[in-house]
Formats: sequence, C-alpha cells, structure tokens
Amino acid sequence: MKSAVRIVEVGARDGLQNEKAIIATADKIALIDRLSATGLRSIEATSFVSPKWVPQLADAAEVFAGITRKPGVHYPVLVPNERGYERALAVGVEEIAVFSAASEAFNQKNINASIAESLARFEPLMARAKADGIKVRGYVSTVLGCPYQGEVPVAEVVRVARELYAMGCYEVSLGDTIGIGTPGKARAMLRAVAAEVPLDALAVHFHDTYGQALPNILACLEEGVGVVDSAVSGVGGCPYAKGASGNVASEDVVYMLHGLGVQTGIDLALLVETGRWLSNLLGRETGSKVGRALSF
Ligand code: HMG
Ligand code: MG
Repeated sequence: MKSAVRIVEVGARDGLQNEKAIIATADKIALIDRLSATGLRSIEATSFVSPKWVPQLADAAEVFAGITRKPGVHYPVLVPNERGYERALAVGVEEIAVFSAASEAFNQKNINASIAESLARFEPLMARAKADGIKVRGYVSTVLGCPYQGEVPVAEVVRVARELYAMGCYEVSLGDTIGIGTPGKARAMLRAVAAEVPLDALAVHFHDTYGQALPNILACLEEGVGVVDSAVSGVGGCPYAKGASGNVASEDVVYMLHGLGVQTGIDLALLVETGRWLSNLLGRETGSKVGRALSF
C-alpha cells in the first residue's frame, strides 16, 4: 500500500450533477472554497457538458470564475466535446476531464455516442489541450457493470483505459458508476488494467449503491493504487445511470486512510464540517457515516 494517497474530490461535479433542485451559484462556489481549505489538492469543480443534458451545471462558467483558486490545488472540470473545451478555456480552466465508458449501452444514454465515436471526439480536443498546456484526466465508466447491458467484459475496460492513456490522459479514473462491484472483481479489474496502463496513472472511482465502495477501495489500495475519487457527504451519481446513488463519502475514505496510517494531507475535521454544511444546504442527512459519528 502507498504511504500517501491523493483524493480527487468530485462532490461539486459528480455530487451536484445529480441534484434535482437547482443550487445557487454562490453556494457551489462556497462549497469549492470550503473544500480547498481542507487540504484537498484536486477538486473537480464543475462540468461543461450541455446544459440541456445537465441543467444543474449550466452555471459552470460562473462557478469557475467565482472560486478562489488556491495555489497548489487543481480544479479539473468535465468536458464532453470541443464546445465544452472552448467554454472551459474561456474562463481560465487549466485541467479538464474527458469521459467514456466500457459499455456501449451506457455511453449512448450518457453522451449519445458509441465508445469509438466518443474517443474520436476526444482526438482533436487532446491535440488542442496539448498545444494549450491543459492537463487532461480520463474517466472510464461502468467498469464493473452497466445498468443497461449488465456484465461488462474486463477486456473492454482495459481497451478504453489504454486508449485514453495513449491519447495523452495523464491519469485514468476507473469508475464503478452504479456501485455494483465487489472487492474481488474490483481487484481483478484493476490488475488487468494495470498490466497495460502504469498503476501510477490510475485512479479508482466508486459509487456506494450496494455499500461496497470502501471494501472495493481497500482492495485497490492493497494493489497499490494511489489516487481515489470521492465526494464530500457522499453526494452524487450520474443522472443517466439508472440506479446510481452517491459516491463514496470523502470523509469515510479519509478516515479509513488515516486509520491505515496513509497520509492524505486533509484535515478530517474541516472535511466533516464541510460535509455537514453541504447536507444542511441540501436539506438531508449526510451520506457519510464518519460525518454522522464525529462531532468536532
Ligand atoms: P447531443 O444532444 O448528442 O449533441 O449531446 P448536440 O451536439 O446536438 O448538443 C445538444 C445541444 O447542446 C445543442 O444545443 C448543443 O449546441 C449543445 P441546441 O443546438 O439544441 O441549442 N451543446 C453544448 N452546450 C454547451 N456546452 C457543451 C455542449 N455540447 C453541446 N459542451 C453531449 C451530446 C455529449 C453534448 C451530451 O450528451 C452531454 O452533454 N452529455 C453529458 C451527460 C453527463 O454530463 N453525464 C454525467 C457525467 S459522466 C459521469 O457522471 C460518470 C463519471 O462520474 C464516472 C463514473 O461514475 O463512472 C465521470
Ligand atoms: Mg461518478
């Protein structure tokens, strides 16, 4: 296991994209600024997808322009196409994330494109990002199962991850979009991908639908993965993945890592406080067990 792990906080994007009631832009900005005060170094800020598809994040430009960018903190944003890239660049984004899936059926529902079409769409975008000095992270969704096609062959996960890496993504995040995987499968999937893409360029992204996220993360940590995606207060899910519920809660991941003696650089008390602030804002109980258990 690594002695230090980087958390990629996805609450402001993967978390909020699944909220039905529109959240004020100022609250989104406040969330990101609170997160950057906790010691997090990677905070996915928003998403420059089509506002017709994800109305909640239609204010991506205003959010990004409104945050206080802390030195040393990266603020990637999701970008599906060149249009999104241009919108992101116009407000000074320095890192983007592109996304595809290992399942054809899910990709069609999520971005109205086949896997091949989506990868082809990224080619010109990657060339522009390289020329513009923009870092690109890649996501592969449905790595342990698809809500529409069921089983997803590991070979497909490996293929899409390899292509994203070969295209120039500095890191590829492997997403269990519907949280259906179990630790043995998660470990085997990661091992298969790591045979083709360097382990140090891989991240894991678990949703907690079936309560398997922490054991899955532990299995992947034992394989040597050094980057874990999570969302404060356990918010989130993909609106185009039937049955997807919250991301694994950042508070729970940080608590587990610190308990294992793994460093994150994150102040757990501040993170818990931020999770509490967010759940109050959303008007429901936090999805973080650690957040519920601890009071500072
Ligand atoms: P489309 O309808 O096939 O394409 O959408 P289109 O080009 O016809 O676009 C539709 C309309 O949106 C047009 O407007 C475009 O101009 C506009 P109209 O002409 O009708 O007035 N448009 C845009 N506007 C602003 N910014 C843009 C943009 N692009 C088009 N970038 C498209 C194709 C890819 C755009 C659409 O399907 C889309 O935006 N999908 C995003 C869905 C999404 O955000 N899903 C959640 C994120 S993925 C996820 O959560 C999984 C992850 O967390 C990992 C995991 O858990 O596994 C990453
Ligand atoms: Mg996700």
